[in-house]
Amino acid sequence: MRPQAFRQIPGSLRSRICPSLAQLPIGRRRHNRGSVPVCAGFLPDADQIVSAADTLGGLASGNAKGLQGISESIRSATETLGAYLPWPLADPEVQLGVDLANIVALQPQWPGVLRLLAIYYILLLRPSPFLGVLDFYVLVPFSKLIQRRYQVADLTLRDRLGSGNFGQVFEGIKNKNGKRIIGNQLTKEEKKRRVVLKRVNLDGSVLRSNFLKAGTMARGAGETGVAEAYMCSRIMRDPLVRQCVAEYQGEFIADASDGGFTKGTQWLVWKFESDSTLGDALSGSLGGRFPGCLEEIVLGRVRENVDSEKRDTAIIRTVLKRVLIAIKRLHSLGIVHRDVKPDNILITAGGNIKIIDFGAAADLCTGLNFSPGQGFLDPRYSPPEELVLPKRFPKAPFPAAAAIISPLAWQIGRPDLFDAYSAGVLLMQMAVPELRAGSALRGFNQGLADCDYDLQEWRNTKGYRFNFDILDRKGSSGWDLARKLICRRNSVNRGRLSAGDALRHRFFLPEF
Ligand SMILES: Nc1ncnc2c1ncn2[C@@H]1O[C@H](COP(=O)(O)OP(=O)(O)O)[C@@H](O)[C@H]1O
Ligand SMILES: [Mg+2]
Repeated sequence: MRPQAFRQIPGSLRSRICPSLAQLPIGRRRHNRGSVPVCAGFLPDADQIVSAADTLGGLASGNAKGLQGISESIRSATETLGAYLPWPLADPEVQLGVDLANIVALQPQWPGVLRLLAIYYILLLRPSPFLGVLDFYVLVPFSKLIQRRYQVADLTLRDRLGSGNFGQVFEGIKNKNGKRIIGNQLTKEEKKRRVVLKRVNLDGSVLRSNFLKAGTMARGAGETGVAEAYMCSRIMRDPLVRQCVAEYQGEFIADASDGGFTKGTQWLVWKFESDSTLGDALSGSLGGRFPGCLEEIVLGRVRENVDSEKRDTAIIRTVLKRVLIAIKRLHSLGIVHRDVKPDNILITAGGNIKIIDFGAAADLCTGLNFSPGQGFLDPRYSPPEELVLPKRFPKAPFPAAAAIISPLAWQIGRPDLFDAYSAGVLLMQMAVPELRAGSALRGFNQGLADCDYDLQEWRNTKGYRFNFDILDRKGSSGWDLARKLICRRNSVNRGRLSAGDALRHRFFLPEF
């Protein structure tokens, strides 16, 4: 504003705009180092000031009115909803509506704030205490009632797929019209009926009847089978999480000794999801070198004349992203897998990822299969802390109490960072060709331990001859992610990215 314009403002307004200047005659003000023009170009126009003040005032009162309006809407919406809800729910629902409306109208009341915080804790934090209790005490018994019960005559037992400490895994087929499948060649229709059967080892230990209800750690192979069946059926009850794991179809005790079954043995059944694990792809047994062998299945196309390193990075990025999504979803239920590795990741014909093998998993929501100080380890993929929660953590109480404290315990102990470390090792194994063989991974782990789990130091001192091209692309985004996943935790159990954090890392931004 020019001095000329300032002069035209009425005196009273002039003094509100700039009281010190208004005292002085308009023109040039004396400065101790000479004469300088004042106000020119700095002072806003009087009209601008008046209209800005009006706008601000309007906004403030408009906002207040707006908030009042929203608050009233919440109040009336919850009252309307309350009229339709059954008696035990209607009053609490209306009360919560009033609490929320008070907060929105900027008139919070302490009891109301506490009530809303309690609801947030019980329903919205993960793992959710409400869903944990509901699942354990209501849905588990209910699903046992409705689950399909197999008999030996319903199934044909075929090749053995694997054998671990706790059980033997076989391919099987659901019989049609009570007829067993003979011969090795399967028709398309028979292939669709394939299942995977895990026979739980009987190691002579007595199965405690109350071990699930007490929410304690499985002891021996028999109880591990019970724990795995519990984890899988719990996951099946969540519509989102179940998409990331092999479809669990139930358990049974063999009712006869026939067709390879022995009477009294315990079996778990899954849908046969795929012939290929990520381990098969890494070892080159899918016909072609990794990761090129997964291009069509994972990216949905094969492109000629494309930069091969860029293509390999895209495949690895997609696989890792799907694994991290699966891990993140499991964690949202309070389940830590504890055995994330290529052999436990199936790649389906549609390029999806299915996590399997929940024998070592712990449900931190109900405390099932968790005991501080005990871990199941594949040392190649396990973090240095070896345990999901620090050893000083108290033993899990009974499931209802465990569920109530689970969001708190989760925040303090961050058990999810256990699986996040394994995902970091998976990234290194996929991206660094020299680490793809299982034996190379053993050396990697030893070297890493020697460097106190400082991945950068390991690279500088032990791995400097390896090929890090894929990790070093796009400003070393892959390397940065690997370093943030493969590291020690700090004194407050943090310092490593969780699966969710990792998914937001720039490594997952597409490359153009
Ligand atoms: N649902 C499934 N569909 C197809 N193959 C499976 C399935 N579950 C397991 N397998 C195969 O069986 C192998 C062993 O199964 P897993 O559950 O990991 O048992 P183990 O305790 O022996 O490791 C897996 O590596 C995989 O090849
Ligand atoms: Mg396994």
